Amino acid sequence: MSNLYRKDFPIFDAPENSGLIYFDNAATTQRPKCVIDAVSGFYKKNNANPLRGLYDLSGRATEAYENARHTTADFLNAKDCEIIFTRNASESLNLVAYTWGMANVSSGDEIAVCISEHHSNILPWQMLSQAKGAKLVFMECNPKTAELPETELDKINARTKLVAVGHVSNVLGITNPVKEIASRAHAVGAVCVVDGAQAVPHFKVDVKDIGADFYAFSGHKICGPMGIGVLYGKKELLEEMPPFLRGGEMIEYVTREGATWAELPHKFEAGTVNASGAVGLASALEYVHQIGFDEIVRHDNRLTSVLMEEMNRIPHVSVVGSENPEKHCGIVTFTIDGVHPHDIASVLDSEKIAIRAGHHCAQPLGAYLGLPATARASLYFYNTEEEVRIFAEKLRNVRRWMGFKD
Ligand code: ALA
Repeated sequence: MSNLYRKDFPIFDAPENSGLIYFDNAATTQRPKCVIDAVSGFYKKNNANPLRGLYDLSGRATEAYENARHTTADFLNAKDCEIIFTRNASESLNLVAYTWGMANVSSGDEIAVCISEHHSNILPWQMLSQAKGAKLVFMECNPKTAELPETELDKINARTKLVAVGHVSNVLGITNPVKEIASRAHAVGAVCVVDGAQAVPHFKVDVKDIGADFYAFSGHKICGPMGIGVLYGKKELLEEMPPFLRGGEMIEYVTREGATWAELPHKFEAGTVNASGAVGLASALEYVHQIGFDEIVRHDNRLTSVLMEEMNRIPHVSVVGSENPEKHCGIVTFTIDGVHPHDIASVLDSEKIAIRAGHHCAQPLGAYLGLPATARASLYFYNTEEEVRIFAEKLRNVRRWMGFKD
């Protein structure tokens, strides 16, 4: 399978994975050798507790950790102090709900979210609205094209305090107009929180250009380690927010009665940090940057086009969302008449093809579309056209496997 980047991923050379077609990249990507080496290199050469020790080794651990922050800030066009390392996008979004949200949202306020959101970008706002007596308002996408109609944005109004939107839907693959949504939010004095988990791996994200107040993503969806995530927040907002978790290294002074907080970003990073994860993430961001997003977008679009063309030729297979492959960000969610998505995934698994099936942590979207479960193939730059053709061939046989005649 010819692909310039595939050789960088040791998982595809493991004998256990011989012949594996990995199409579950929206759930988690694979890691290139440079990321694996960066993580093990940290433990082999620089491991000590960062930010605390008054000795050279701890200084090097701190330097590696803070360099990783700098790389991440550059990647998003943010300042270093605006980058908070978390465990994942879910934790980043919860941080905003429990800090900015609890301090600023009151009874009678509204929080606007899109119906297509992942549970990570709904549940924190459900919690906040219930705790504060605010109203959660859903902006609904067009069920056919997956796009958010302009009229739905009118739900952002003078009562809106916070707008939460996914940059790219993990089910529909559609890119939401986050720049316009941020500007609508600001026009009514609301903040805009963007879940970028499915966007950051696929195209260039510039948080300043978008104008988002907060932007979250996970490392493991962009070739980085699991257990490291990022919250970008505008400095002036982060400065006025109370801390989220309390504990070691996030304080200035502690007395019996109370405490004052450390400067940004440490105020939001209680306890021993995930330094090896941050170092691995920085290596992943540098690796992806070297490939270049022009190349990644070209590859995503080409493979998605081939995949959707093949799928359109298979009777009983229906793709959810836009007919335009360029509006899918490599995510193609589908159904097969008469076959439960879990059965689709099991049949394909028996052919060494990994896809995701189920509600994709987006049950309100499933209920809205009348599709409580679907199957999803999600591609990344190390997938090949040959894999797509094999996938289509195997997909064609799924109904027969399940006992249908056609
Ligand atoms: N959020 C991940 C997905 O969509 C896990 O599969």
